[in-house]
Amino acid sequence: MAFEYEPHGRTQLPLLKMDEALIETLEDNQMQLQNVLASKYRAFFLQRAQDWQEKLSTTDTVINTWFEVQRKWSHLETIFIASEDTRSQLPEESKKFDTIDEDFRALVADAVKTPNVIECTNKPGLHTKLEALQDRLAVCEKALAEYLETKRLAFPRFYFVSSADLLDILSKGTEPLEVSRHLTKLFDSLAKLKFQEDADKKPQKVALGMFSRDGEYMDFDAECDLSGQVEVWLNRLLERMRSTLRSLMPQALGTYEDKPREEWVFDYPAQIALTGTQIAWTTEVGVAFASLEKGYENALKDYNKKQIARLNALISLLLGNLSAGDRMKIMTICTIDVHARDVIIKMIQTKVENSQAFAWQSQLRHRWDDGEKHCFANICDAQLRYAYEYLGNTPRLVITPLTDRCYITLTQSLHLYMGGAPAGPAGTGKTETTKDLGRAVGMMVYVFNCSEQMDYKSCGNIYKGLSQTGAWGCFDEFNRILVEVLSVIAVQVKCIQDAIRARKKTFNFLGETISLVPSVGIFITMNPGYAGRTELPENLKALFRPCAMVVPDFELICEIMLVAEGFLDARLLARKFITLYTLCKELLSKQDHYDWGLRAIKSVLVVAGSLKRGDPGSAEDQVLMRALRDFNIPKIVTDDLPVFLGLIGDLFPALDVPRKRNLEFEKVIREAVVELKLQAEENFVLKVVQLEELLQVRHSVFIVGNAGSGKSQVGPDHPGPPLTLAKHIPWPPMAPWREQGPMAPPQAEAEIAPVLKSLNKTYKMLKRRPVTMDLDPKAVTCDELFGIIHPATREWKDGLFSTAMRDLANITHDGPKWIILDGDIDPMWIESLNTVMDDNKVLTLASNERIPLTPTMRLIFEISHLRTATPATVSRAGILYINPADLGWSPIVASWIETRTEKSEKAALTILFDKYLPPCLEKLKSEFKTITPVPDVTAIQTVLSLLECFLTPQNVPPDSPREQYELFFVFACIWAFGGALFQDQLVDHRQQFSKWWLTEFKAIKFPSQGTVFDYYIHPNTKTFNLWDERVPAFELDPDVPLQVLVSKSLERQSTPEVLL
Ligand SMILES: Nc1ncnc2c1ncn2[C@@H]1O[C@H](COP(=O)(O)OP(=O)(O)OP(=O)(O)O)[C@@H](O)[C@H]1O
Ligand SMILES: [Mg+2]
Repeated sequence: MAFEYEPHGRTQLPLLKMDEALIETLEDNQMQLQNVLASKYRAFFLQRAQDWQEKLSTTDTVINTWFEVQRKWSHLETIFIASEDTRSQLPEESKKFDTIDEDFRALVADAVKTPNVIECTNKPGLHTKLEALQDRLAVCEKALAEYLETKRLAFPRFYFVSSADLLDILSKGTEPLEVSRHLTKLFDSLAKLKFQEDADKKPQKVALGMFSRDGEYMDFDAECDLSGQVEVWLNRLLERMRSTLRSLMPQALGTYEDKPREEWVFDYPAQIALTGTQIAWTTEVGVAFASLEKGYENALKDYNKKQIARLNALISLLLGNLSAGDRMKIMTICTIDVHARDVIIKMIQTKVENSQAFAWQSQLRHRWDDGEKHCFANICDAQLRYAYEYLGNTPRLVITPLTDRCYITLTQSLHLYMGGAPAGPAGTGKTETTKDLGRAVGMMVYVFNCSEQMDYKSCGNIYKGLSQTGAWGCFDEFNRILVEVLSVIAVQVKCIQDAIRARKKTFNFLGETISLVPSVGIFITMNPGYAGRTELPENLKALFRPCAMVVPDFELICEIMLVAEGFLDARLLARKFITLYTLCKELLSKQDHYDWGLRAIKSVLVVAGSLKRGDPGSAEDQVLMRALRDFNIPKIVTDDLPVFLGLIGDLFPALDVPRKRNLEFEKVIREAVVELKLQAEENFVLKVVQLEELLQVRHSVFIVGNAGSGKSQVGPDHPGPPLTLAKHIPWPPMAPWREQGPMAPPQAEAEIAPVLKSLNKTYKMLKRRPVTMDLDPKAVTCDELFGIIHPATREWKDGLFSTAMRDLANITHDGPKWIILDGDIDPMWIESLNTVMDDNKVLTLASNERIPLTPTMRLIFEISHLRTATPATVSRAGILYINPADLGWSPIVASWIETRTEKSEKAALTILFDKYLPPCLEKLKSEFKTITPVPDVTAIQTVLSLLECFLTPQNVPPDSPREQYELFFVFACIWAFGGALFQDQLVDHRQQFSKWWLTEFKAIKFPSQGTVFDYYIHPNTKTFNLWDERVPAFELDPDVPLQVLVSKSLERQSTPEVLL
C-alpha cells in the first residue's frame, strides 16, 4: 500500500493523510502474523515471519510518531513562522523551530519519494529521527506556553481568553483594527474603537472613542495611543476607558441642576447618566435629612414630591417616540428611580428622621468624593470604590427587598474579606443580582459556568486572572465541580482572601508570586439538591457568606418592569399577571415542562412591551392579555387549555382580542410547507408561527413532543437516522490548540423536524439565509461535546458543541443561525449550557475560553420529554409543546398519498385510510397492550411502509378494483396495528385483536379458522393462505451438527416477510 498526502494549508508541504484502510490493513496483517507465529508448523516460516513482524511493528510506531510530530509541527508552524510577533519575542525558540522545520521538511521530501508504506517507514534511523524531532518540538511548545504566560501576566485579562485567541491577538498585535475583533472577550461591553483616520481614511494606531456592544458611542477624554506591543497598548486602553468614565462623572454632576433631568439625561452616556442620578439621589436625601434635623419637618415629603414629578416626566418620555438606545437608557433610570422613590416613601411612612437609620444605611448609596476624586458606593459599613468599567447601555434589575438583602450580604462579605454564596432554586435571580451589584459599582464581572470538566488547574488560572485584574468572578452552579477539586479550590480561594486581608500588593499563589488588586471578589451561586450537584466541603463553605434567594418579589418586579415598558396601570396589571401565574401553577396539570417562574414572567413582559409599542392605541389590559395568552398557549397541553383560557377569561373579563397575525408571513409559511411536501394544515402553520414568535423572545427553545408528533422525522421525504454533527466535524479532530482555518461548512440542509424545517424553508424563501447545525448530544460523551483538558499534558481538546458555536459566531451575516440539539436531555450535558441559555449568553469552557452567543444565534432542542431535566434547565428556555392532536395522522397520510402516481389508486387509498385508521388507532390506544409503546405515528408509518411494498404493479395493476387494494390494505393494517401485541397473564391481546377485527371489518373475508395473523396473501391467487403451508417440514440432516440446524417455524417464516 502507498501513503496518501494532502498539502498543508499555508506552506503546501505534503502532509500524511489519516488513512483508515491503511491502519486497518496494518493491524489485520499484524494479527495474521501473530497467528502464523503461534502456529505449530511455523518453523519453516519462522525467520520470514519474524522479519515481517519487526517491519510491521516499526511501521506502526513510525506512523504514530509521524502523526504526532506532524500535528505539533503544523500547530507550531503557524505560530513560529507565520507570526512575526512571536518570532521577535522568542528569537531563540524561533531559530530552534527553523531547524526543526528544515529537518521535518527534509524527512517529508524523502518520504514522498518512497510511496510504499513498508519501505518508507523502515528506513534505517527514521524512528530515532522522529523521536528527536518530537523532543525538540516539546521544548518549543514549553517555551511557547511560558511565553503566553508572560503575556498573561502583563495583561491579566488574557487569562480569560483561550490560547488560540491569545495567539491570534498576539500575532496581530501591531494591527489594532484586527485585534479589536477580540475586544468583547476582554472587556465587559467595549466592543469597537473609533480610530483616528489619516487623509486617505485609513485608520491610524490612535483611538478616539469606544463603542459598546449595544452600539452606544463615547469619546475618550484623551487620545489613546495603540502602538507598540499589544499587551502594553491594551493596558493603555483599559486606563483610558476608566479615566474617561471617571472624568465624566463630576462633569455630569456639575450640570445636574442646570436643566430638567429629562433633558439632562440625553447629554450623557447611559452609565454616567444613571450613576449621576444615583449620586444625586444620595446627596439630595442627605440634604433633606439635614434640613429635617434643623426642624424643617416636611423636608423628606417635599423631596418625595420632587422625585415623583421627575419620574413622571421620564415615564411620559417612554410613552413617546424614542430611539432604541434612548429607550433603554430611560427604562433603566426609571427602574432605579422607582426604587429610590419607594425607599423615601417607606422612610416617610415609618417616620425615619435620621440619616443613620438602618432603612437609609442599608441602601446602596453612591457618592462622589471631591477629595479623592473618586466615586464610591456605600452600603451599611461597607464601602466599594467604583471601578469604571464601561458597561454600555444595559438594563438593570428591579431592586426588591430580596435584592437589597442580597446586596447587603455580598458587600458585607467583601468587607469581611470573604466570598458570597447566593443559593436557592432556579431562576430566583442569584446570578443576575450578583452581576447587577457589579454593574452598580462599575465592576467587570466574569460569569463562569462550572462543570465537572474543570480541574484545580483551570480554576487556579481563573483565580490567578481575577486576582490580577481585580475583577469579580461569579461561579455559577459551583457545586457541579467534582468534590475533590472543590477541596483544592478551597485552598486557592483562602490564599487570595488571606492576601487581601493582609493588604498585600503581591502574594504567593500556588508557588508563583503574582500581583493582587484588592477589589477582587469571588461569588458562587448554587441550586442545592439538584441532580448532578455535590455538597460543598466544609472548608470551602467557611469562606463564603451564604445568602438564601428563594422567593423573588414577583409582583414588584412585574409592576416595575411594566412601568419601564411604559404601562400606566402597572400595579393592577401586575397583580393580574401574577395571580394568573400563581393559579396556573396550582390549577393546571403537573407537566414537566411547565414553569411559571421569573424567567417565564420576564419573557412575557418583554413581549407585552413590544406589543404595546407596536400598537400604542389599544387598551393596556388588552395588550397584556394578548401577550399572556398567545405566549403561553404554545406550551399548554390540550387538556389544560380550557382551564387556562378560563382563567384568562376571569381575570380579563369581557375582553376578546384576536391574535396578532402577520398574514404575509403565514402565506410564505404555507408555500414553504407545500414545497416540503407536507400538509399546510391550520394547526401546523400555527405551530410554525408560534415557533417563530418564541424564537424572537427566547434564545433557547425546547420543542417538546412525543416521538413522531411532527417534531421529529416523519414523512417519507426524509428517511434515515438523524444526522449528528460527528459526520461534519471529525472527532477527535484537534491540535493542542484549535486548528486555524475554516472548519467544515455548517450543514444548511441538516435533517430537522417538520416544524423547524418549515420555518427554515420559510426563512430561505424570504432570503434570510438561515444556517443550521444539527447535533445529537447523546451520541458523544460530555468531554467530546464541550472539550476537555488532557489531565496529563494539559492539552486542550475542543468539543463538538464549542466548535459549532464558534463557527456560527464567526458567520457575519445577520440571518438566523440555529444549533439544533436533537437528543434526550440529561443534566450532565445540558447544565453545561446554563450560562448560554440564561441572560449571560456565553459558553464558558474548561479552557477558560468564553464564546458568546451572538444575537442572531439560537439553540433549539428537540426532545420528547423533560422528565430528567432540572428546573434550572426548564426555566431557561421557551417551550413549544406539540400535542399529538396538533398534527394528527391525516397530514402524514396525505403527504404519502401524494407520492403515489396512479389516480384511481389515490382515490381508493383515501377512502381506505378514512375507513380503517380511526377505529384502529382508537382501539390500539384504548384496549390492546403492546410489547413496547407504539406511538400512533409509528403504527401509521408501518402501514405506509408495508403498503409501499405491497402496492406493486404486479399485485395491483393499474385500475384494479377497490377490493384488491383493500385486501392488501387490510393485511398491512393487521400487521401494523396487531404486530406488536402480546399476551399478558390474563389476556392474549393478539387473539382479542383478531376477534375484534373479524367482527368489525367484514369487507375482506378471512378463512374461518385461526386468527388473522395466521394468513398471508398468496402472490398469484390473491387469496389468504396459511403461513404454516410455507414452513418447510423439518428434516434432520445427520451430517450437520445439531447446533447449526435451524428449525423453520411459523414466526421465522412470517417475520422477515412482514419486516420486509
Ligand atoms: N430583581 C429582579 N428584577 C428583574 N429581573 C430579575 C430580578 N431578579 C431576577 N430577575 C430575572 O430573573 C431571571 C433569572 O435570574 P438568574 O439567571 O439570576 O437566576 P438564578 O437564580 O441564577 O437561576 P439558576 O439557579 O437557574 O442559575 C433573569 O432573567 C433575571 O433578569
Ligand atoms: Mg444562575
